[in-house]
Amino acid sequence: QKAQIGVTGLAVMGRNLARNFARHGHTVALHNRSYGRTKELVEEFGHEGTFLPSESAADFVASLERPRRVVIMVKAGPATDAVIDEFAPLLEEGDMLIDAGNAHYADTRRREAALKAKGLHFVGVGVSGGEEGALHGPSIMPGGPKESYEALGPLLEDIAAKVDGVPCCVHVGPDGAGHFVKMVHNGIEYADMQLIAEAYDLLRQVGGHSPAEIADIFKGWNEGRLGSYLIEITAEVLKQVDASTGKPFVDIVVDRAEQKGTGRWTVQAALDLGVPVSGIAESVFARAISGGVPERTAAAEAGLPGPSATAGQHTGDLVADVEQALFASKIVAYAQGFQQIQAASKEYDWDINPGEMAKIWRDGCIIRAKFLDFIKQAYDKNAALPTLLVDQYFLDAVSGAQDAWRRVAVTAAQQGIPAPGFSSALAYYDSLRASRLPAALIQGQRDFFGAHTYQRVDKPGSFHTLWAAEGRPEVDA
Ligand code: 6PG
Repeated sequence: QKAQIGVTGLAVMGRNLARNFARHGHTVALHNRSYGRTKELVEEFGHEGTFLPSESAADFVASLERPRRVVIMVKAGPATDAVIDEFAPLLEEGDMLIDAGNAHYADTRRREAALKAKGLHFVGVGVSGGEEGALHGPSIMPGGPKESYEALGPLLEDIAAKVDGVPCCVHVGPDGAGHFVKMVHNGIEYADMQLIAEAYDLLRQVGGHSPAEIADIFKGWNEGRLGSYLIEITAEVLKQVDASTGKPFVDIVVDRAEQKGTGRWTVQAALDLGVPVSGIAESVFARAISGGVPERTAAAEAGLPGPSATAGQHTGDLVADVEQALFASKIVAYAQGFQQIQAASKEYDWDINPGEMAKIWRDGCIIRAKFLDFIKQAYDKNAALPTLLVDQYFLDAVSGAQDAWRRVAVTAAQQGIPAPGFSSALAYYDSLRASRLPAALIQGQRDFFGAHTYQRVDKPGSFHTLWAAEGRPEVDA
C-alpha cells in the first residue's frame, strides 16, 4: 500500500493537516525530524484513517505513490531550505514538494526555479485558519505550476473549508502567487485586528463601556454586515475574565502586540510595488509603537500632555458611529490589499483572479467575513476594477458611513485617543476623492531644489522653471 500524500514536519499545523487528509480517506505518509512526534500522532489519532509512518526520509519517500506529493510543514526560512535539501535528492521527475508554511513569496520563487531545473515541482501553498482550520478545513491558496494543481488540487480541495459545497481552494497562479496572496491575507488580518482594537478602545474610553458590555456590542455587530470570525472572537476575548484576579482578561495582558513578520512583509512588498497599503502599514506600525517600551516609558516620564479638559465630547450615537467607522475603514483596508494583489499579479504575470481570492477567503481563514461575498461579486463583475471603493455596494456603504466616520476621527483626535487605522483610512478615502491634491506643490518644490521637472495641466511635455529668474518659466524639454 502506498500513500497519496505525505506530510513532513508534524508540529501542530502539520499534524492537523495530516489528520485532515486521513479523515478524508487519503492514505497519509508521515515523517518528522524526531520520530517521537510521528509515533505520537499514530498512537493518538491512528484510528482516524490510514497513516504510513516512516523514521527515515528515504522510507517516507518510498511509501508514496507517484507523482509523489510531499507536504512540508516546518518553520519558514532556513528550516524549509534544509528540508528541501534533504528531500530533493530522493525525489524523481514530476514529484512535488509542497511548502504549506508561511514562506516569503520571494523564497518560494527562488525555490521553485531551483527545483524546476531538477525536474521537480515546487508548490508554495498559503494555508490559513490556524490549528483548527488545518484540522477541520482551512482556506488554501496554492501557487506553483498549473500542471501540479491537476495532481494536487483535488486533494487540497477535499480538505479545504467549503461554502455551499464550494471549496475554499483554487489555483492562485504560478510560482510565488499562493504565498503572496497568503501574505496579503495576513496583512489584511493585521489591519482588521487593528481597526477592531481601535473600535474597542473608543467604546471603552469615550463611551465608558466595560469590556463585557463591548463584548455584547461586538456580538450584535457580528449579526450584521461586519459579521466575521475576527469580530466573533473579539467578543469572546472581551468576555473573558481572568481566573486568578477576577479582572477582565484584556486588562491583565501586557499591551504590546507581537508579530511574526507577514504583516511587515506585506508592507515591504507594497512599497516596492508602489501600492499605498496605508491601512496595513498603520497596523504594523501600531504594533511597533505598542512594543516601543523605551519611547513609551520616556513619554510617560516626561508627561507628554493630552488634550485640555475642555476637549469636545462625541456628538452622535457613539456605538452606531464606531460601527460605521469600522466598516468603512475595513473596506479601505481590503481595497488596498486587493489592489496590491492586482499590482503583483501584473508585475509577475500571475494572472490572479481577484474575485476567486475573495471566494476562497469566505471560510476557513482568519479574515473570513460575510462581506467577502460582496468583494467577490464586485470583481466578478469587473476583474480590473481599479479600486473596490467604486463598486456600487462599497460606494454606497462608504458614502452612508462617512459622516459617522468623520465624527469618530474627530472625537479620537479631540480626546487624544490614537486611532491611526480609522484616521488614515479616512485620509486615504479623501485623497482618492480629492479633485486637486497638494502633490502639485511637492512637484514645485522638487523642481525648485533639484530641477526634477513637472508636467503642466494645460499642455503636454516636461517643464522646468528657472526659479532664480523671478518666476519667468522656461521650457526645457
Ligand atoms: C492564518 C494566520 C497565521 C498566523 C499569523 C499570526 O492565516 O492562519 O494568519 O498564519 O497565526 O501569521 O501572525 P502574527 O504572529 O504575525 O500576528
